[in-house]
Amino acid sequence: MSNPSRLAVCPGSFDPLTNGHVDIIQRGARLFDRIVVAILLNAEKRPLFSVEERVDIIRSVFKDAPNVEVDTFDGLLVEYVARRQANVIVRGLRALADFEYEMQMALMNRHLSAEVETVFMMPSEKYTYVSSRLIKEVAALGGSVSGLVPALVESRLATRRTAAKSYRT
Ligand code: PNS
Repeated sequence: MSNPSRLAVCPGSFDPLTNGHVDIIQRGARLFDRIVVAILLNAEKRPLFSVEERVDIIRSVFKDAPNVEVDTFDGLLVEYVARRQANVIVRGLRALADFEYEMQMALMNRHLSAEVETVFMMPSEKYTYVSSRLIKEVAALGGSVSGLVPALVESRLATRRTAAKSYRT
C-alpha cells in the first residue's frame, strides 16, 4: 500500500481555545503529517466568541505551524472527516471525568463510520483542570486565567469583561 500523508482532525467548540487545546493540537501535529482544527458551527446558541473570532484566534496562535489548518464544520463529524479524506479524530483526555463522554462519542462515531479511528492524547498535567467553561466563568468574574490560555485569548477575554462592565454601568 502507498503511504499517503496522514491527516488528522481535531474537532471541538474551542470557545475559547485553551492552553490544554494548544497542547493537544501540538502533540497531534507532531504525530500526523497534518492536523485540521475543526470548529463546530452552531454548537451553542450563545457562544462567547463568534466562529469567525475563534478561527482568527486559532490561526494566529498556530501561524508558525505550517501543518496546522483551521476549518469549520457542520453536521456529523464523521461526514466531515470523510470529506477531508481523513480517518483519524484526535481528542484530548484530561481526567477520568472526560472518559465516559469521550468513549460514548468515539464509539458512536465508530458506529457511524467504521473507517474512522479516535486517538486520545493526554495534555500536560498542568492543564488537566483547564476547560473552556471554567475559563469563561473565571474570566467573567475577574479572576486570572494567565498561563491557562494563549495571550491573545486572555486579552480578548479582558476586552469582553470591560465591554460587559461598561454595558452594565
Ligand atoms: O469541544 P467539544 O464541545 O467537547 O466538542 C464536541 C464535538 C464538536 C467534538 C462534538 O459535539 C461533535 O463531534 N459534534 C458534531 C456532531 C456529531 O457528529 N455528533 C455525533 C458524534 S458523537
